[in-house]
Amino acid sequence: MSIASTARQPGITAGFAPLRALIAARLQVLLPGEEEAPRRLHGAMHHALIGPGKRLRPMLTLLAAHRCGGDEAAALDAGCAVEMVHTASLVLDDLPCMDNATLRRGRPATHRAFGEDTAILSAIGLLNQAYGVMATLPDVPEALCLRLVRLLVQAVGSRGLVGGQECDLHPDTVEADAAALEMLHHQKTGVLFAVALEAGSLLSNAPEEEVAALRRFGRHLGLAFQTLDDVLDATATVEAVGKDVRQDGGKPNLVSLFGLEGAQLRVQEHLRLARRELVWPHRPGCMLEALLDEIVLALPLPAGSALSGQGQQPG
Ligand code: IPE
Ligand code: IPE
Ligand code: MG
Ligand code: MG
Ligand code: MG
Repeated sequence: MSIASTARQPGITAGFAPLRALIAARLQVLLPGEEEAPRRLHGAMHHALIGPGKRLRPMLTLLAAHRCGGDEAAALDAGCAVEMVHTASLVLDDLPCMDNATLRRGRPATHRAFGEDTAILSAIGLLNQAYGVMATLPDVPEALCLRLVRLLVQAVGSRGLVGGQECDLHPDTVEADAAALEMLHHQKTGVLFAVALEAGSLLSNAPEEEVAALRRFGRHLGLAFQTLDDVLDATATVEAVGKDVRQDGGKPNLVSLFGLEGAQLRVQEHLRLARRELVWPHRPGCMLEALLDEIVLALPLPAGSALSGQGQQPG
């Protein structure tokens, strides 16, 4: 199934559902089987990864490859590697010693279903599986696989996601101003968006200027997305987002700094800046813009907002 034919099916704007299904099916294949020993550990990895996530990061990799004329099979696996990293970060983020959440993707958080010990090990298992997948992309030269593994490792590390999560958990170490908070958002969320896009474009031999533009697109999208997530924490129901809400009350973020309307304006601004990065080079049929619209629809803001959409996906 090609990306273009998948995405042109009727109703695709109501959820990119076939693309999600393609990604979910490949994730199943790339993970050790649930029945393989140790079964509890592999069960936890499946529980975390195979739940109904939005699959935004692998979609970004696939749509970047589609935009730049790259190979779908390699981009699918690269996107799945990023999704495994993202899922590992969610398992850890939900632990009692971190956000202490109970629900994820509409199901019990991994530590609630399998215990904290197995949850932690399942996150490590997912991270390592991700690096292994990125190192062995089908029909991709080893040097390019190595470049992508290095990018992923940097994105996860203490200057990226792990560093962002550390600051998020210890806000007293961070200035509560917009620049510092957006840097934190970029680290904990934006870097994975950026690496997802970078992987898709590098696998397509896109010119370096375009790779850089897509990285900037990812940065703005990540900032918009995390800010929307913080807005939803303050406004959405558990049923609508499929995870715990009202978790961020004591934390400095753009909602506590600017209020709901101010945060919405930041979202709008970052989405505008993201869209701008797609203008050059002109790529007819690029579907990243449609995905931007989809994200806005999938994560509606409070009624009356200029950005509010029609439906919600599980968080
Ligand atoms: C949740 O990410 C964590 C944030 C960065 C806000 P998603 O909203 O993409 O979660 P899933 O993958 O759809 O569950
Ligand atoms: C988490 O941000 C970002 C990660 C790196 C996991 P949040 O803590 O706001 O994510 P949710 O709301 O639990 O999904
Ligand atoms: Mg958190
Ligand atoms: Mg959380
Ligand atoms: Mg949140």
